[in-house]
Amino acid sequence: MDSLDQFAAAKLAALDRGRLRRALAPTVRDGLYVERNGRRLLSFSCNDYLNLTQHPAIKAAAIAATERYGVGSGASRLVTGNHPLYVELEARLARLKGTEAACVFGSGFLANTGIIPALAGPDDLVLLDELAHACLWAGARLARATVLAFRHNDTDHVDALLRTHRARHPRVLIATDGVFSMDGDIAPLVDLGHIARRHDAWLLSDDAHGIGVVGGGRGSTFADAEPADVPLQMGTLSKAIGAYGGYLCASRPVIELMHNRARTLIYSTGLPPATVAAAIAALDLIARDPDYVALPVAKARAFTRLAGLPETQSPIVPIVLGDAQTALAASRQLEREGFLAVAIRPPTVPEGSARLRLAFTAAHPDAEIERLADLVRQQVYA
Ligand SMILES: Cc1ncc(COP(=O)(O)O)c(C=O)c1O
Repeated sequence: MDSLDQFAAAKLAALDRGRLRRALAPTVRDGLYVERNGRRLLSFSCNDYLNLTQHPAIKAAAIAATERYGVGSGASRLVTGNHPLYVELEARLARLKGTEAACVFGSGFLANTGIIPALAGPDDLVLLDELAHACLWAGARLARATVLAFRHNDTDHVDALLRTHRARHPRVLIATDGVFSMDGDIAPLVDLGHIARRHDAWLLSDDAHGIGVVGGGRGSTFADAEPADVPLQMGTLSKAIGAYGGYLCASRPVIELMHNRARTLIYSTGLPPATVAAAIAALDLIARDPDYVALPVAKARAFTRLAGLPETQSPIVPIVLGDAQTALAASRQLEREGFLAVAIRPPTVPEGSARLRLAFTAAHPDAEIERLADLVRQQVYA
């Protein structure tokens, strides 16, 4: 074995020892169900909260866009990849989020790794919730800013860090998930907005798991009675929206700065027209049907009630089990009962908090939710 393969094999062996090795499992999804290893399983591991990935109107919009504009976009948006569907999608996103403008990126990950370095540099400070998504951390590191973590959802800690550090940095960005991807709780955005204004810091929320499902579909900025003051509303089109791509909704100058400085926008090919058309069609459906939009959280709450767990704020319900082996065993046990509930292990979640992360969708049958709750109560936690 040459040194390269030896290096890879040693890394993999270490992961094996900790039960942390991951593998790609070929998976055929047909809506709620997935086929894996020859078995059909009801999935509680997809972020397709509104089941829009398979919606006929959305598929039709994607097909029509492919026929009209072709499969790929051919270049960066800054060159010739900016097909006309982008204008419509960005106008709709800005309207939904109540901002002057919006910019669509190639993915949520590309959005955060483009936005943060465009706003912060080596002299600046980025404060991140300790449980913030990996792409917020990646963006902060790419910015080469000073990065400090604050305790999860702890606004007093944010305030204290700002009192200590604010004066040393020309610019400070505070970044957090709006809905936390592995925990399902919602950031205290109203309070964070006040604190940020008081210290002249800029608040960025990553609403990957909020758009389409909380705040009447408008996302976590709108989850409370009073909308939060979040000048940088980022998110993804790959979860409840059922398509692909990331976005930032913000003021016009900020969006125009992204066109000029966000390297992941400038140096990456535009999204396929079909994907942009699908997102537009999904936003149409979301705007038209608030009762449907409310279903994923309602279903998740029915589950937490039946399973005897704390009431969830979002469609995401974590079942924290501790070590990786226990989480893998629980996942296998549910698989034997016909459910897909993938085990989530470090480093995606902190050491000692491996879990099943359940995601509820509008279309999950109530009887299956009851059966899953019984299994979790009687067997997973037993
Ligand atoms: C909170 C959060 N932010 C960003 C992303 C990345 O978005 P995308 O899948 O569009 O790259 C994800 C999930 O993948 C996420 O959970």
